[in-house]
Amino acid sequence: MFYSLLKPLLFALPPERAHDLTIQMARLSPALGKASGCELDVRLAVNVGQNRWGFPVGLAAGLDKNCEALNFLSHQGFGSLECGTITLKPQEGNPKPRLFRYPQEESLRNAMGFPNHGLLAMLPRLKLFEKNIPLGANIGKNKDTTALESIDELNILFESLQSEVDYFVINVSSPNTPGLRAMQEKAYLLELFTTLNQNRSKDLFLKIAPDLETSKVIELAHLAAECGLTGLMATNTTIMPERGAGGVSGRLLTKRAQSIQSIILNEKLPIEVIGVGGISETSDLFDFWAMGGKACEVYTGYVYQGPSLLKKMKKDVLKFLAQQKLKDLDSFFALPLLDRQESLREFRE
Ligand SMILES: Cc1cc2nc3c(=O)[nH]c(=O)nc-3n(C[C@H](O)[C@H](O)[C@H](O)COP(=O)(O)O)c2cc1C
Repeated sequence: MFYSLLKPLLFALPPERAHDLTIQMARLSPALGKASGCELDVRLAVNVGQNRWGFPVGLAAGLDKNCEALNFLSHQGFGSLECGTITLKPQEGNPKPRLFRYPQEESLRNAMGFPNHGLLAMLPRLKLFEKNIPLGANIGKNKDTTALESIDELNILFESLQSEVDYFVINVSSPNTPGLRAMQEKAYLLELFTTLNQNRSKDLFLKIAPDLETSKVIELAHLAAECGLTGLMATNTTIMPERGAGGVSGRLLTKRAQSIQSIILNEKLPIEVIGVGGISETSDLFDFWAMGGKACEVYTGYVYQGPSLLKKMKKDVLKFLAQQKLKDLDSFFALPLLDRQESLREFRE
């Protein structure tokens, strides 16, 4: 209700201005997050790595880059939050305009380039987080850092944030930082994970691009398993040069992200696969479950639909559990994949 009143005003502004204004409102009035959000339901909680998400839909990275609105967002109905991308030093990001809307297609295109206030600004803000739901930190390298230097840089971020967050996501898949996607190379990642694993107590995910070759996706999935990572986040935004520079998210990304998720899930590796990319309604969540996935994250769907997206998903999932006579999502995910697929098919008919 609240968001449906606010949205026309926000959408009348340039996208980044609307985003910044929303974050500032959320920062100043965390109570509004609760008033406009929905409560979590114990029946809908799931285990993701070492953490218990209150709902299998979390907030993806990039919305609260500077950890300013966490106490607002943690009451919206998400099962987890991911802040960042955080870099070691503050940086401005790419020149504006760098965020564009495609309202007909419920999609966005961004070429932000990790604008953020840097590690030191985040630490005190993270201390103020209520810690009512799991919090992930998405970390990345500064624009002017070489691949070689980035291992030290990411390790500093990792060690400094380890006591403040519940999981980490290494972002080497943004299309907006020159040379970053080249860091999806095996030799580089092997060295990076070996370094981070030396002193790791928290879950660790690698976030990958949707524009990789199938063989590359399979290679990265196996690498994640071999290095003992918690899992992969699939995917970041996709390149669509015909639309302009940067990466596209939202419904225009759904199919591409799903095909990457399905490649990884088909490998049946002992890793979590967090589905990200164009999840915009409950049927997208059910599609992901039918492929063998469990938890996912959203960004663009939340921009277009606000907390009602989460309310609707929650209602649909409770209806699904009731119809299938399942007491909770744990019981659902304890079923073999074929049985899960069958119950989803039955419900959707
Ligand atoms: C404006 C904007 C900024 C983003 N910034 C980041 C970022 O800093 N780090 C990151 O890993 N992903 C970032 N993303 C990607 C999202 O986390 C997500 O992977 C992508 O948008 C696909 O999900 P969606 O279709 O639900 O939006 C950003 C996305 C958008 C739209």
